[in-house]
Amino acid sequence: MGIIEEIKDRARKVRKTIALPETMDKRIYEAAVRIVEEDFADVVLIGTPEDVEKYGAGYDLSKVRIVNPFTDPNRQKYIDKFVELRAKKGMTPEKAEQQMTEDYMYYACLMCKCGDIDGVVSGACHSTGNTIRPALQLLKTVPGISSVSGFFIIEVPNCDMGHNGRFIFADCAVNTDMDSQKLAEIAMLSAESFEEFIGDDPKVAMLSYSTKGSASHADVDKVAEAVKIAHEMYPGLVLDGELQLDAALVPEVGELKSPGSPVAGHANTLVFPSLEAGNIGYKLVQRLAKANAYGPLLQGLSLPVNDLSRGCSAGDIVGVVAMTAVQAQLADR
Ligand code: ACO
Repeated sequence: MGIIEEIKDRARKVRKTIALPETMDKRIYEAAVRIVEEDFADVVLIGTPEDVEKYGAGYDLSKVRIVNPFTDPNRQKYIDKFVELRAKKGMTPEKAEQQMTEDYMYYACLMCKCGDIDGVVSGACHSTGNTIRPALQLLKTVPGISSVSGFFIIEVPNCDMGHNGRFIFADCAVNTDMDSQKLAEIAMLSAESFEEFIGDDPKVAMLSYSTKGSASHADVDKVAEAVKIAHEMYPGLVLDGELQLDAALVPEVGELKSPGSPVAGHANTLVFPSLEAGNIGYKLVQRLAKANAYGPLLQGLSLPVNDLSRGCSAGDIVGVVAMTAVQAQLADR
């Protein structure tokens, strides 16, 4: 069974409600119908009757809840919540009403914040920045976490590295200004994401172009410092670095370059030193190794919101909704 089918089975057991606010895109309707047919989550679409009539024509939406942000009885509750959360940033009831009806992602995040839904999936026709900014502003991070980051579940066919070809890669999507403190935090969150979605033995490699001092540069120092911080802050974490990618993944190279490391040669959770490296790295594996790359999923956010690629298919949306439902279960704990 592929990882997405496993995740759907888990989602089915917890039955969460996920909102899809992009009702101006046909793929959303196709995905919504498939989700309720596969019966692993409840779906809320946010849109006007005109949106639904125009883009959702021909789909059987009888089992999908549709919330019209202009007539929803909960609308005033969301305006009040928006003002409460953003008053210090100058939010007024008038601005709140305008923003959440012009951009349904804000509406969806407010529904989530008020506990009326369990998670949000968007980004089929919005950029990553525009998708995640409302979530960062309204939902904020888990207490004790400074930054939200973006990870991928990578599934490489016919691969005996990682966890039978399965990996977590991070940060591939969010932080443009990476420092040692953030890298250490991303390492811990990525290990948790590994445990949530893949298995119970995360082995985290802090990647660099240097292995244990083989090169010297400020970029190498940044990763080495992150390793030190991570060991101090999260002593239970199985983590090592700085490691080159081959030392992280290939047992013989790991043994040669970093003998005795608990991670080298056996890493299954890869933390990249910058957003460029992470974003380019996952796409290389996806395109050249024909790996499945599921994400970017967000980690460190207080409630589950996930981004879609604008090139996504309805099937991709179905998969991300299943993963979001599983994250919603974990957010309950
Ligand atoms: N974690 C938590 N909160 C954050 C983070 C973060 N990583 N980044 C920003 N915030 C918060 C800020 O504190 C701020 O909160 P406030 O309004 O309450 O003070 C709010 O989010 C907005 O922050 P800004 O600094 O104004 O940031 P901006 O809105 O310009 O951008 C964003 C934030 C969207 C995450 C930006 O960093 C970004 O665009 N990152 C890259 C996204 C991207 O293009 N990724 C690659 C494509 S994805 C792919 O290929 C799969």
